Amino acid sequence: MPKTALLKLDEKEIALPIIVGSEGEKAVDIAKLRSDTGYITYDDGFGNTGSCTSNITFIDGDIGILRYRGYPIEQLAEKSSFVECAYLVIYGELPTSEQRAKFSRLLTKHAPLHEGMTRFLSSFPRESHPMAILSAAVNSLGAYYPHLATNNHLHDLEHFDEAAAIAISKVRTITAHTYRVTRGLPFNYPRPNYGYCENFLHLMFSEPYNEYIPTQEVASALNLFLLLHADHEQNCSTSTVKMVGSSGANLFASVSAGVNALWGPLHGGANMAVIEMLKSIHAEGDDGTKFIEAAKSGKGEARLMGFGHRVYKNYDPRAKIIKASFYKALASLGIKNDPLLNIAMKLEECALSDDYFVSRKLYPNVDFYSGLIMRAIGIPENIFTVMFAIGRMPGWIAQWREVAVNPKLKIYRPRQIYTGKTVRDYVPVEQRQ
Ligand code: SDX
Repeated sequence: MPKTALLKLDEKEIALPIIVGSEGEKAVDIAKLRSDTGYITYDDGFGNTGSCTSNITFIDGDIGILRYRGYPIEQLAEKSSFVECAYLVIYGELPTSEQRAKFSRLLTKHAPLHEGMTRFLSSFPRESHPMAILSAAVNSLGAYYPHLATNNHLHDLEHFDEAAAIAISKVRTITAHTYRVTRGLPFNYPRPNYGYCENFLHLMFSEPYNEYIPTQEVASALNLFLLLHADHEQNCSTSTVKMVGSSGANLFASVSAGVNALWGPLHGGANMAVIEMLKSIHAEGDDGTKFIEAAKSGKGEARLMGFGHRVYKNYDPRAKIIKASFYKALASLGIKNDPLLNIAMKLEECALSDDYFVSRKLYPNVDFYSGLIMRAIGIPENIFTVMFAIGRMPGWIAQWREVAVNPKLKIYRPRQIYTGKTVRDYVPVEQRQ
């Protein structure tokens, strides 16, 4: 393997170091390119640009590999839990039983909200989008817990464990309180003896006259959904969290920015867009065939939501796993013939056989089935992307920590190629056209 790449520029030849990762991924280190040549690189959308090295998640998009800290997602999905994976992703190792117990105690301790926050959540209009409330509420954790948001955390992570537990545990309570307050329902309060997912479903769906106890299959489906979303290397929202964290901003401010990036329909908003797409196809009396033709024509808005991926050019391994769990949850809920599911199967069948999609490597991604699973559980559509944020919280925290502890931290500040107007003189208003 050559140690350097030779670049010939304007009759100059410079050697750029080659970086090789633990899985054999290769990169050309261009840190000195601008100082040595005056050139920068250009890569719209950063599809070919590595922003960092990281020890957390490995993805091989060509063959559909996803591992958290070296553990294959298939094994974690079968043997682990969301809370255990959250610990693994953040701290780098599977927890011992003592570590797991301590982590669970922290999550239990921090499940309830500051009473001021419950009033804050109640102040939003009922028609507010839950992602708008979530990003505001997560950022406000820095106000309710100021000792955790001093913004001098760089290389000083004295309060990190507590801040991480607060973010992971309270994002669940904030979501449930948002669901209830926008429907005029009384808040539920966390049960100290419930597991992470069981507590969330209790907070969401228990009524004063009826405690919500999920079936094992529903609780497992939700646990799997969150586990599969725990981290995904340098995706749009995670890169946003690291960008904000690189300025020295505290954890809550940084992950709040991640919530906003995730909201977009091309990213975390896709799970909601999938259901809207299936419902509109169903409303047209189409079984999916006409929609596929429209998507292929590339005209209008007919994009197959839940298909395609910047990295996976093969089947998203998470989609495979979640699809299998989805059927078990349906069966436990007694849901037999779901028209949207039939359309989803038709779209998948077409996308996997039609050359338009196969040539563009547009396979179902994690969002294709996750919307169907949440709909089956009874989670309202406008909370689907919030559920993605709950799952992704450990990854955002872990990736933020890599920035915060980096002794050679550089603030993220990309360059640009200016293509605007060249220099010109000011024009008084009376002379302007
Ligand atoms: C997530 O990055 C991550 O890791 C994200 C994520 C995570 O865990 O954090 O995995 C979560 O965000 C999954 C993706 C969810 N988004 C969707 O399902 C929205 C629908 N998908 C697309 O919008 C699209 O596939 C993207 C945004 C996901 C990826 O876009 P790319 O890689 O930039 O691909 P592209 O837009 O350059 O498209 C390449 C070609 C184009 O056709 P041509 O111009 O070559 O003719 O494929 C076409 C696109 O028009 N195309 C689609 C399509 N996605 C791409 N055509 C129809 N339907 C689609 N879904």
